[in-house]
Order: sequence, then structure tokens, then C-alpha cells
Amino acid sequence: MCGIVGYVGPNVDGRALDVVMEGLARLEYRGYDSAGIAVVDTARDTVATEKRAGKLENLRSALVTHPLPDTSTAIGHTRWATHGGPTDANAHPHRGGVDGKLALIHNGIIENFHALKRELLAERVAFSSETDTEVAAQLLAREFERTQDLTMAMLGVVNRLEGAFTLLAVHADAPGVVVGARRNSPLVVGLGDGENFLGSDVAAFIGHTRHALELGQDQIVTITPDGHEVITFDGEPAHGTAYEVTWDAAAAEKGGYPTFMEKEINDQPQAVADTLLGRTDETGRLVLDELRISEDQLDAVDRIVVVACGTAAYAGMVAKYAIEHWTRIPVEVSLAHEFRYSDPIVSPRTLVVSISQSGETMDTLMAVKHARQLGALTISVCNTHGSTIPRESDAVLYTHAGPEIAVASTKAFLAQITACYILGLYLAQLRGGTYADDAQAVMKELEGVPGKIADLLTHLDRVKEIARFMADTRSVLFLGRNVGYPVAMEGALKLKELAYIHAEGFAAGELKHGPIALIEAGQPVFIIVPGPDTPHELHKKVVSNIQEIRARGARTLVIAQEGDEDVVPFADEVIRVPHTSPLLQPLLTIVPLQVFALHLSTAKGLDVDQPRNLAKSVTVE
Ligand code: M6R
Repeated sequence: MCGIVGYVGPNVDGRALDVVMEGLARLEYRGYDSAGIAVVDTARDTVATEKRAGKLENLRSALVTHPLPDTSTAIGHTRWATHGGPTDANAHPHRGGVDGKLALIHNGIIENFHALKRELLAERVAFSSETDTEVAAQLLAREFERTQDLTMAMLGVVNRLEGAFTLLAVHADAPGVVVGARRNSPLVVGLGDGENFLGSDVAAFIGHTRHALELGQDQIVTITPDGHEVITFDGEPAHGTAYEVTWDAAAAEKGGYPTFMEKEINDQPQAVADTLLGRTDETGRLVLDELRISEDQLDAVDRIVVVACGTAAYAGMVAKYAIEHWTRIPVEVSLAHEFRYSDPIVSPRTLVVSISQSGETMDTLMAVKHARQLGALTISVCNTHGSTIPRESDAVLYTHAGPEIAVASTKAFLAQITACYILGLYLAQLRGGTYADDAQAVMKELEGVPGKIADLLTHLDRVKEIARFMADTRSVLFLGRNVGYPVAMEGALKLKELAYIHAEGFAAGELKHGPIALIEAGQPVFIIVPGPDTPHELHKKVVSNIQEIRARGARTLVIAQEGDEDVVPFADEVIRVPHTSPLLQPLLTIVPLQVFALHLSTAKGLDVDQPRNLAKSVTVE
């Protein structure tokens, strides 16, 4: 899940270096264990590199004391370490060849690198890092010596590699050329005027062009200042798919907020509103033109399996309650990595819905591919155009949250839940029956939710205060029932990843079966209370759960609907959220928990946008 940038263009005013550094800054969310740059130095007939362990800032400082030469051709990398620790030596780019004239950067894992390395060691090739990447660099340098053509050399190498990879390479004997290759790992081309770009995603070059080219699986692309050429791993000519990037550069920046996460929390009303846009016709009926699966196929679906990881899996858990209720189709939610290796039972009537913000999560991608091989229908709910998971699925339903840069997912979560509601309502409409008639009413109610989120966001000062007071807290528990249960899990995940605090989310009904033993005097517990109009008297049951833990000394932080007075006697704090119908409540109840985690992390002086050990896009299994 590293970030990759490539550039070729005019050799003027340090442009190549500026473009690559700017691209790396935008891609740093993908990994920040180290960063590095390689440039073709035509004056000295070599490739110059600079790389440093740690954040991009370290590379930036190094470039002040060791400036790189002017160039027209540069590649840059920001790393999330897999093979070899986060050291200067393991940072990319890696050089290849005895003369070191080739430089290569890589995202992914080369699974057969041990065997390849043994082969190279037998030929007395020397290695200076512990990475799998250096093996590819050395193989590529050897192929270049044979072919004297960087594209042909790449073609000679990629078919020897197993695993997932994006590779970018430059060579001193091929100035004005960057060659890229991708298999199961992202790479997009930015098409400029007299200059061209490569990036792990469009954020890498969004400040310079909006014309982009999506590459297919197993393709090699060669960019020069005046053009690009694509071939397959079989050496056949190919074409990418051109598209216009609709995000603007400002959307990928902080918009005046101190952190991307704070901006993204505040983007949530827009993310939900945009995800709802254009889903109904003039009569109010849902129309999902982008789905590309026939109504007959969808009508035949008798079971749904949601596959996803992390926050996206919690969105899937919310979806389960809603889709089952509206369609009466059984829905299972499976962590993608568990689904893939569990011998799953699927048939052509099983609909596998993957949920992913990045569209690149390897665990989810492998689950989707496996489901397809087993004959299931696959739909991807995804936020990133041109990414791999939608391409590998039968159909896609895009969320429109815009770029999510902070590692901790916030607006994508709300957009994913919204897209799953839309999918559930669409299936209900197709099937007819009770909830088909309700679909339009629910869509109407959903349209009012962005305004409610915006209003809620202006009423969370007390939550921020509580977070600041709790900076020294060592453990926080979260309880919820029904759709409040995944919200509790998501609230706990936010706190773990941002504030490094022990946090756990439980189904409130499960408490008495064990977890209640954790409650001691002063233990903070957030309780997500369903609205009083929730069926099965769930509201009453959760109020009883609050009493049970309060009686044992817990400090109860209660998230309840406006006007719910039943919780007041048992709450140390009441955090109010606006009214919605029960199934839609997660779109509101999660917001105070996101704000709580953000402010607690800030109070502890931690890096909110780039928490330790994490990366935005997890492209390894
Ligand atoms: O890009 P995806 O939605 O597939 O990512 C899935 C998870 O890795 C992601 O949600 C992760 O759990 C976040 N760090 C949560 O904030």
C-alpha cells in the first residue's frame, strides 16, 4: 500500500521534482514509513536518488542539504513497510545493475522473491536491502542490458513475478521515459500537455491534470513527455480507459481544518447527499443505471454475503439489518479475509456485495475474485473510480464521498451505509411487496439526513470537552443493539486506531454473558440508545442495560435521540442526536463517537491523520 508517482516533462525550473514531491505529499496517506525519489541525471549519465526512513518531511529536509540535479524524468515513493523494516536502506527507490543506472519503486508484494533472489545471488548480484523490490530492480537491470529498451525489459520481468505489484522504473540510458506495470495493485496515468504522470491514484497529479487513463489488469504503460503506450503482459498493444477526474485539488486538501480527519468529518453531510444524488427518476422510483446487472439476475438472488474489512465491514453489518428488513433476503457479513479462506458456500443466486473505500484492499479483492470464480454475482460498493475491486466485480455502486485522506475512515463509512440502503431499497422495489411501497418514503427521509448531520456537528462541544478530560483514560467500552451494535464496534475502532486506547464494542444484550465483569467504578461506557420508536421494545431493553452497568459503577456516556427523557436518570452525560427512523440512526449516532476519538487523540498530542502502524489502503493480504 505504498504511494507511487512518476513524471516526464520539460526540464525547467525543477518542475519534475516539484510535481513528484507534491504527489508524494498527497499520497502519504498510503504509507509513511519512508519516502524516496529517483531522477534521471542526463548530465552525469546516471540516476540520482535520495531516500529517508520516516515521514516525507525527512526526505524534504534531506533534499535541502543534498539537492537532486535538474531533470525531466522522476519517480517517487512513500512506503508502508512489508519486507524489511522502515530504514533508509529499505526505502525505495532501489537501484539495479552493476552501474546502478536503473531505479525502481514498487507497491505490493513479490511472493516468489526468495527464489528469484537465490538465482541472482548465484550470479553474484549484490543486494543492499532486505526488500523484495530490490530483486525486481536487479532483474529489470539485467533485462535492460539484454534489450536496451525499458518497456521490453519490463515485459521480460513481470511474467517472472508472482504476487501483487505496481512497478515504476527509470533508466539513465532512457531519459524522458518512465515505465510502469501493474498486477492486482493500482496505477493510473495522468495525461498532460507536453508532460505525463503516473500515480497510485489520481491525487498524485490532480493539481496538474484532470485527464486520466485507467489501466487494465496485467498491463505495462510507457510514458514520455508527448505520449503514452500501453501493452499487455503478453506484449499485445492495449488501450487504457480515458476518464475525467471530477475531484478538484482543493477537495484533496484540508480546506482550512487542522487535520484531514476533521475536514472529512465535516464533509459528511455532503458525502451522504452526494451519494443519494441521481438515484431516483421523476416519479421517485429508484433507478440504478450504473449497476450493470439485469433486473432478472437481481430478482433471482436468494442470499447476500457482504465482504469487507474494518470500518467497511461495520457498514456491512448496518446494511444487514436494513437489507434483511426491507427485502427478506438473508444477509451474512463476512470479514473478507475470513470469507476467502473458509470454503464459502455460494451459488449463482448468491449476491456478494463488497464494500471498500479505496477499492484496493487486497483482502476484499481476493474475496471478490474467489466469489466470482465460485459463480456468485458480485457488486462493489466503492468510493474510488478506476480502482481494482469495482473492475473485478460484475457491477459497482459508487459512493460519492470524495477523496478520503485521513487513515481513519469517517465520511466513507456514512457514504457506504447510504449506498447499502440504496441497494436494499432497490432490491425491495424489484421484488415488490410491503417495503417496495416504502422505498420512496425512506429515500425521502434519507434526503433529510445530511441537514441533520450538519446540525449535529454544530452541537458537539460537550463531546470535545469530555474527550479532553479523558486524555488519560486507559479503557473505553461501547454498547449498542441492532444497528447500534456495529456503531459501537466502529466507535471502539476509531478510538483504538486514533488514540491507542483499549476500546471494545459489544452487543448490549451480550453484556450479562461475560463482559459486564469488566465494569468497575469509573469505567467509561458509551451506550448507543435506539430511538423510543424502535420495534421489539429495544429502547426499554437498552435503558435497562444502562441501569445494570451504572449500578456497578460505570460512567455512562449516553447517545440518545432528542426528546428521549427515559435515559436521563441513568446517564452521567447525555449526547443528543436528531430523530430518524430506527434503521437510519447509524448515520447520526456514529458522528459524536468520531468527534470523541478525534479530540481525544488530539488531546494526547497524537498524529490524527496518520496513526502509528497503519496505512490508508491495505494492499497486502
Ligand atoms: O479501503 P477499504 O474501505 O477497503 O478499507 C478497509 C479498512 O482497511 C478500513 O476501513 C480501516 O479499517 C480504517 N482504518 C478504519 O478507520
